[in-house]
Amino acid sequence: MTYVIAQPCVDIKDRACLAECPVDCIYEGVRTLYIHPYECVDCHACEPVCPVEAIFPEDELPRHWAHYRAVNEEFFEAGSAQRRGPRPAQGDHPVVAALPPQHVRKKEIAGFAVRGEEAADVDPWFPL
Ligand code: F3S
Ligand code: F3S
Repeated sequence: MTYVIAQPCVDIKDRACLAECPVDCIYEGVRTLYIHPYECVDCHACEPVCPVEAIFPEDELPRHWAHYRAVNEEFFEAGSAQRRGPRPAQGDHPVVAALPPQHVRKKEIAGFAVRGEEAADVDPWFPL
């Protein structure tokens, strides 16, 4: 089994996962990061640090993102020189490259966070 980075990472690229991986098997593309399926040692360190919950064990991927297992794997098959190189990092898998900009979603996440903080500040006894 291996871990997989799915769509929530696209155009977010928080990179917190990079610092956690003990074997440096997470590689950076232009719009997302990818986990090398043959280098990942399945340690689970990366999954909890991703703020947008983009990382899943491959057999726990939500059905609508199940194709990201192949996306991560095929990213490293695109060029044989990339397969074991330290940093493949140019371009993206075609599935990721074809996605519309995800920044709108990022703004939505930020908006929810702000509204959540505002809600926490409201005193229930003296509502605004
Ligand atoms: Fe992406 Fe999450 Fe890592 S947003 S870069 S998978 S911490
Ligand atoms: Fe690396 Fe462990 Fe995740 S090997 S990709 S931190 S599961």
